[in-house]
Amino acid sequence: MDQLLTSHRSNRWRRRCAACLLLIVVATLFFSAPSVRSDSSITPTPTLDRLATPVVPDNPTPIDLGRQVYYLHCMSCHGDVGQGLTDEWRQVWVEDHQNCWGKGCHGGHADDEGFPIPKTIPAVIGPESAMMHYASSDELQAYLVQTHPPQWPGTLDKIAYEEVTAYLWHENQRDTPAVQFVPVAIVAGSLLLTAIVLLLIYRTWRMRNRNEA
Ligand code: HEC
Repeated sequence: MDQLLTSHRSNRWRRRCAACLLLIVVATLFFSAPSVRSDSSITPTPTLDRLATPVVPDNPTPIDLGRQVYYLHCMSCHGDVGQGLTDEWRQVWVEDHQNCWGKGCHGGHADDEGFPIPKTIPAVIGPESAMMHYASSDELQAYLVQTHPPQWPGTLDKIAYEEVTAYLWHENQRDTPAVQFVPVAIVAGSLLLTAIVLLLIYRTWRMRNRNEA
């Protein structure tokens, strides 16, 4: 009879543990859901016309203005999404500029229409870019002022350098460590809480069993 009572009780505890576990799992999923949603909101909206001028909102931030500077002074070389001068990006250029290193274009010959276009131009946005190598946005800005645009270094307004730096910094998610930190913190916190609650339940269960024995 005693044995039957103990097994009945431990079954009841097991059921309680399972219910708690289920509750914790559901809570964890619920709390981590917004982070999934905020991640998916980063996905850029595909634009049909890749050469279209970016729309500047009514109260633009330096990043919005930097997007405009990038469009005007950087995009032709570094690509619409910062991919660098890829073959695919050159196909988006107007037809007679798609192979711009030839004579009469940007090859660097005496009768060419402008400055020579470098053959390799690196990515400046995304994991392919070297943006992680800049310790700070000031360092990136100093590099740009000194070397860019390559044909006329230092010729943009000071504010334009600041804005385009803010834009690149933002596009490479260097200015939003908190956004990456929040989901990790929520998941880690939930797991820790789960572990503590389970430990407490287990200890209470063991103590009850011992008392009953
Ligand atoms: C005429 C083509 C051209 C234009 C226009 C141009 N760049 Fe560049 N950019 C280059 C080349 C070529 C390099 C590589 C230079 C080197 O390796 O020394 C480069 C390098 C860079 C780098 C360094 C990347 C790295 O790997 O460290 C950044 C950042 C950059 N450009 C941003 C810009 C911005 C911002 C603008 C607009 C203000 C711009 N570029 C306009 C050709 C261009």
